[in-house]
Order: sequence, then C-alpha cells, then structure tokens
Amino acid sequence: MTVKETIDRLRSELHRHNYNYYVLNSPEISDKEFDDMMSELQDLERENPEYQDNNSPTMRVGSDLNKNFTQVEHRYPMLSLGNTYSESEVADFYERVQKGLNEDFEICAELKYDGTSISLTYENGKLIRAVTRGDGEKGDDVTDNVKTIRTIPLILHGNNYPPLFEIRGEILLPWVVFEKLNEEREAREEPLFANPRNAASGTLKSQNSSVVASRKLDAYLYYLLGEELPYDGHYENLQEASKWGFKISSHMKKCHSLADIFNYINYWDVERKNLPVATDGIVLKVNSIRQQRNLGFTAKSPRWAIAYKFQAERALTRLNKVTYQVGRTGAITPVANLDPVQLAGTVVKRASLHNADIIENLDLHIGDMVYVEKGGEIIPKITGVDKDTRGMLLGEKVKFITRCPSCGSNLIRYEGEAAHYCTNETACPPQIKGKIEHFISRKAMNIDSLGPEKVDAFYNSHLIKDVADLYTLTVEDIKQLDRMGQKSAENIINGIAKSKEVPFERVLFALGIRFVGETVAKKLARSVKDIDELQDAGIEMLKNIDEIGEKIAQSIVAYFQNAANRILVERLKSVGLQFSRKEEAVNYSDKLSGQSIVISGVFSKHSRDEYKDIIEKHGGKNSGSISAKTSFILAGENMGPAKLEKADKLGIKIISEEEFIDLIS
Ligand code: IVH
Repeated sequence: MTVKETIDRLRSELHRHNYNYYVLNSPEISDKEFDDMMSELQDLERENPEYQDNNSPTMRVGSDLNKNFTQVEHRYPMLSLGNTYSESEVADFYERVQKGLNEDFEICAELKYDGTSISLTYENGKLIRAVTRGDGEKGDDVTDNVKTIRTIPLILHGNNYPPLFEIRGEILLPWVVFEKLNEEREAREEPLFANPRNAASGTLKSQNSSVVASRKLDAYLYYLLGEELPYDGHYENLQEASKWGFKISSHMKKCHSLADIFNYINYWDVERKNLPVATDGIVLKVNSIRQQRNLGFTAKSPRWAIAYKFQAERALTRLNKVTYQVGRTGAITPVANLDPVQLAGTVVKRASLHNADIIENLDLHIGDMVYVEKGGEIIPKITGVDKDTRGMLLGEKVKFITRCPSCGSNLIRYEGEAAHYCTNETACPPQIKGKIEHFISRKAMNIDSLGPEKVDAFYNSHLIKDVADLYTLTVEDIKQLDRMGQKSAENIINGIAKSKEVPFERVLFALGIRFVGETVAKKLARSVKDIDELQDAGIEMLKNIDEIGEKIAQSIVAYFQNAANRILVERLKSVGLQFSRKEEAVNYSDKLSGQSIVISGVFSKHSRDEYKDIIEKHGGKNSGSISAKTSFILAGENMGPAKLEKADKLGIKIISEEEFIDLIS
C-alpha cells in the first residue's frame, strides 16, 4: 500500500468510527485503538504534507493558533422565526396556513433547541464552511472550530446527497457537560456560564479550536436548503440526511390537525425536562417545500413556520434584604432574600445577585417587587424589577458593601474581575471554614462522616482551625461536643484516617489552590513526581504542562510562596497524606468474570474510559455492540434509542451507574 493509500484508509476508518461513537453511540473499537489510529494518521500527515486535507479527521483535534474570524455572506439569509407563547396564536397560525394554501397540508412539529445556530455548507460530500448566524445576512466563519464537533460529519456517507447544499441546525452543550464545565470553572474561580446556550456560543467563538475540541459540543440539524433536495417533504429530507451522517432529532412528528399539534406541545412541555440538552419551545413547519414556497416570507420570518415558546418559569415576589456570603476564596456573593414564592416545583426564598454590577444595572431597592426565574439556570436569579408597583414608597437603594460582612476587612476588586474579595485569607472565619469544607468534600478527601455543620461546630469550639488539625483530633475531643456519642465520634475519626489513602491528585485538589480544579490537579499530579517538585517549580516549568497557562502557574507559585501554606503542607505530610504519585493500587476481583458488558450514554461518576478500566479490572469484557451474548448494559444518561430498542428486543438487563458501582464494590 502506498503512503497515500494508507492515509486514505486511516481517514475513512476514523470517520466511520467517529460516527459510530458520537452519532450512533455504538463504538466498534476501543478508545485506545482509536487513539492509536489517530496518531498514526497525524504522523503520516506531518511527514507527508503534500497530502494535507482540510477534512481529515485530524482536524477534529483543533489547533492552538489564534485567529480572528472572517465574515461570510449567507447564500440564503438566516431569518428567525415568529414567536408566540400562546396556544391561540398557534391556532391563528394554523388558520393562516389553511387559508393561504387552500389544500391539504402536513405540519412538522419539532423541538426548538436552545443553543446557537449554525449554517453548514457541503460540496461534493465535504464540509466546506460553517458560519454563525451573525446579523442574518452575514456571519462569522467558524469552520475550524466546528470541525472539532464530533457529531458534525466532515465527509458524508453514501453518495445520495446533492452536490451542493446547506444544512442548518443548533450547536448545543449537553446539560451534563455544562454542569461539569461550571463545576470546573467554579473550582478555578472563573466566572460561571449562566446557561448552556451562553456556554455553547462562547465556546464556538473561542479563538483556540483545541479549547472547542475539549468542550464536547453537540449539534442537531433541522433545516436543509439547496436546489436539488431529494424530497418535497422537509421531514423526509431530514430522515434522508440522517443517512448521510447528520444527527437529526428523533422527536420530529408530522401532525395532521391542530389537536395533534397541541398534544405534541403538551407532551414536550413536561417531557423536555428529561432531555440531555436545553430546549425552549416547539417549532411548527409546513412540511411540503412546495407549499412553503407558496406561502413565502415576510421581511423577517417565514410564513410557513412559527415557534411556540414554553413559558420561562418566572415568579414575582418581594425583595426583603440583600445579604452577603463569603466563599472559601474570599469572593463575596450578594444574595437576595425574598418573600417565599413557588417556582417550578420548589419554594424559592433566596436568589443569587452575582455581583455589584448586576445590582447596579437592576437599580434595586429594598421592598421592590422582583421577577425570579429558573429557566435554564442552576440557581434562581432576579431578572427584573416591577417598577410600576414601587409607588411613593421607594425603599432604600441597594449598595454593595465595602467591608467583609464576617471579619470587617476592606474588600478589593481585582482588575478585570466582577467579584469583590475579602483578602484576609488566614483569619476570616467563613474562608477558613469554606477551605475545610472543600477539603473534606466528595471529590477531594471525601470525608463523608463530616459535613458543613460539624465543621462549623468543630471550628466554633476551637477544636480545629485548619485542615491539618483534623488529623490530630481524638474521639475524646469530639465527644466533648454536644450531641456527640462514642459511635459518631469513632465514625468521624475513622473517616478522617481513611482519607490518608486518597491519591495525590485529589489531595492536590483538596488544598484549594486558586484555579486548581479537579482537572488541573489531575494534570499536575501526573506531571510531577511529588509535592516537593511542585513546590519548587517555576512559572515556565508549570506552563509546559498541558492545559496550564500563565494564570494557573502564577497562582500555584504564589500559593507555595506563602510560608503559612508551606507549613500546612508539611503538617499534612507528617500525618501521612499522599503527596507523591503512585501507580494506582489495583483492586482486582473476578466479580465480572465471563461477562460481556456494553457501555452506553453519558456518565457522571466516572468517565467512559474509567468504566472500561473498572470492567477489565474485575474480570469483565467491554464490548462495543449489543448482541445475544451481552450480559448487561451499563447505561448513563442519553442512551441512544436504537440501543434501547435492541436491548429490549433481546431482553438484556440495563443497569445504572449507581447499581454498577454497588455491584462491584
Ligand atoms: S428552523 C427559517 N428549527 O430558533 C427557519 N430553528 O428564531 C429556520 N431553532 O435561529 C429555523 N430549534 O437557531 C428551526 N427545530 C428548529 C429549531 C430552530 C431551534 C432556533 C434557530 C433559529 C431560532 C428561530
């Protein structure tokens, strides 16, 4: 085989495996085999630059080059849809279509995905351009970034596609990925993304495509445009496009009456909460393209389609006061204290106000009636003030505090940051307690016999003043406290002792060094031999480690420059915590011996690779596809419908992450 033939073979196999893994959710080969093939291809491409190809699977990995986006004009303008929140306006739309067409018609009902829209152009089966909506007339060329999204095919399957066409859809960040991303950002004290939509559009506009590649964006395509489409039906065209390799929603439905449409709306208003991605409504489209053409467009939107938006869950209530919380890093969070109000199934009494700028922009006064929304956000937030209800009795204007509510130190605001900080790191009680709480948390030292209340009690009764004090506590010390019996005291001491086995990477995370979240801690622990090497590392050495930039490097160096931190680490070392890298102790068992296990979906406790590892360590075999020989399926969220159906047909048991962990523990 010539080099060119090898390159072509590798490319075509990698495209196929990508599709199996990301779109069908059904890999045929192991991640290791995939990675090996990818590096073989990368090497060959590096050595033979004459065979460079913009649609090679290696483009999925992204590049570190910074670039500004070029603006590209859309071949067909990217219009938006008319919006409605009311069922009667949906009925009006239906009637207008009926009158306009004066013949039978079908309506395709589909989910309105809440991400950021994208237009993809394919020529001769290859992705040639990806452009954002922009102002509708022209958008940013984000092709390199989009190429890193695994559910978007670079090369189409089969040969039944039109020679030139455009397909539009929505780029999304799945909930689980969004939550994980925000957890990591929180640990690194970076500003959180308010919702998956902002996270997706922020990511897509990133200047560094390797950042995009790491974020696991997803894409659903919902609109095909071109001169030579296979069918007259929009629904039928998209089913066809799914055969070319696109990810098309499996929840589209053709409706033949207004009643069908309302059933669809009512079903998804509830059921959408179980979807892996955010949706904010339903889109209704006349299915026939010929009929679409007959109906045409207004200046802003098509007459053949409408979006019905779900009500954002919102409530109106009174703002009683604003209190301020001090986090473990000294960051101050303003919190609105509200009259309790029912919202999306829970009673809301407090909402985050984020920072001083948000308070200023809302022009908040005590006693104001404010709107609270949950929407796609994790914590309820205040989205507005009902100024009409203020009347003559305007309350006091909310002014951000200038001193720490706990220790009274002056607050500072670092340049370019939205938050205010208390800098009294070593003596401000909530910061100290916050650091201890972080230290014992599940992903850090996992001392679950302790919790925030006990930390509070231990700290207030002067039993502990930092995390190292935990390791010199005795049962007798703890028993002195109110409501603490022998048994619970022993439990706590055992939990603390057990944490001495927690591996280096988690101990590093537990220290709570600014910007060192779980992922960074892992990278560091795998790159240095022990804590001494990390303590002595300079900025430049740290920056050589994958994913560590200037800001993180500076924070690590500053942490170890502080003598108090070095003393703390020495004390933790002397009580026996793990401060050096160890080959992981393997806990072999034969609990899964002889079993063939298929992994499917998205997981929250371990990654897919970790589960594969666990299966092997317990004597089982991981298999990519379901067959009669499959013993069971380890299913996370978002298991593909095709797999579900197959499992059902063959009567194969599906077990959850929790059940699996129980099984092997
Ligand atoms: S069709 C001309 N279908 O909603 C019609 N749009 O204002 C083109 N969206 O910008 C859009 N899900 O980003 C269509 N199933 C869906 C959609 C959808 C989400 C977004 C899209 C567009 C906005 C409509």
